[in-house]
Amino acid sequence: MSYFEIIGGRKLNGEIEVKGAKNAALKAVAAALLSKEKWVIANFPFIEDTNRILEMVEDLGVKVNRGDRGNKRDGERSWVEIQAKEIKKSRLNDKLTKKLRASIILAGPVLARMGEVRMHHPGGCVIGKRPIDMFLDGFQKFGAKVKWQNEHFRISAKKLRGAKIFFPKITVTGTETTMMTAVLADGETILENAAMEPEIPMLAEFLNKCGAKIRGAGTPTIIIKGLKKIGGGILKLIPDRIETGTFAILGALAGSRIKIKKCDPDHIRALLVNLERAGVRFEEKKDELIVWGAKNLKPVNIVTHEYPGFATDLQPPFTLLMTQAHGASLVHDAIFDGRLMFTDILNLMGADIIMHDSHRATVHGKTKLHGRKIASPDLRAGITLVLAGLIAEGKTRIENIYQIDRGYERIEERLQKLGANITRRK
Ligand code: EPU
Repeated sequence: MSYFEIIGGRKLNGEIEVKGAKNAALKAVAAALLSKEKWVIANFPFIEDTNRILEMVEDLGVKVNRGDRGNKRDGERSWVEIQAKEIKKSRLNDKLTKKLRASIILAGPVLARMGEVRMHHPGGCVIGKRPIDMFLDGFQKFGAKVKWQNEHFRISAKKLRGAKIFFPKITVTGTETTMMTAVLADGETILENAAMEPEIPMLAEFLNKCGAKIRGAGTPTIIIKGLKKIGGGILKLIPDRIETGTFAILGALAGSRIKIKKCDPDHIRALLVNLERAGVRFEEKKDELIVWGAKNLKPVNIVTHEYPGFATDLQPPFTLLMTQAHGASLVHDAIFDGRLMFTDILNLMGADIIMHDSHRATVHGKTKLHGRKIASPDLRAGITLVLAGLIAEGKTRIENIYQIDRGYERIEERLQKLGANITRRK
């Protein structure tokens, strides 16, 4: 099993490019199944999660062509082509579904194209309870029948009808899945209390280019007029805002000066405001962010929130940042109930973090971190442990790095270019 070996304490300097957004790529692959025509998804990140969703699509009999160093598409060397002329089966692969929470997003397009979808309950990150009730309620509102037996669902509908759906709780993937399904439903769909993450208007804009009729994406109310079919084209993914934010925190923790390229600082506004409050110096341009290493960090309390609030995916690296601030800061993850568990590992490395309950912890700083042998519990905690290793004294060995490879493409090579001493070993 591969692991990362990190020798901490080096000052990092230079440039790092942000890849296309993982959570936009996963949804774009699913949405491509709505069309019989070719979709090219450019600026595509080749990471474990996107590999898994492409495998799932191929398993359904859909043609996928991966280009990760060939001809440029829409100015990008990294792209995939997907053409779902026909979908050969309605049963999602069990093994892959259990590996990837986001596999649920395939349910909507497969149901819309095939009149049926069968799948195992999706698996994925261990960051707390991840029910799918709002997806199932949504499908039922479109007129589908949902049957549940032995951990498997069968969702079926001869015809999907547009519906009015109010989400009792804001859900990112739930919003995306119902929005996609509505594109091929009969009549009008209104989604209320919808999520507003930037990946949603990106997808809606492209679906509209393919002929769909979606209004209001990026606001809490999305209105979709259903159609019989949509076309294809080239979709360029937006930069990954979680990578951007993670690299900004890395810059504050370990950088002398780090330039983050090909990013959109507007997408991490809530983080930037809090970095400023913590005393981190940065300069932003349209698609660049320069961050300087921070000397005297101040403690800042944060509460995670749906977009445009503080992203839960940036909570773990921000919690690490607070271990280097002078004083106590309260971290409240309001979205997931398992996202602070990794603080135990930071404590093993020398941090002083006290959990009050599954959502809240107080970080007491400043603490010196020491290298240890540890394992990555999930994706965002995993990258945080990489950052922790980079500022810790001595050697850190991180196991279970599949969890990190799920979301960050060849991260060790990109960090090495900044001067980090990190090696992938077998
Ligand atoms: N929820 C329900 N029922 C549902 C769906 C969600 O109760 O049917 C709850 C969840 O348990 C959670 C809250 O609603 O407490 C919000 O969950 P949401 O559905 O918004 O999360 P998601 O769509 O499953 C996406 C990202 C996550 C990110 C969250 C929150 C993808 C593939 N995943 O998850 O990203 O943390 O939104 O922003 O888009 C990651 O990339 O590491 C990651 C976990």
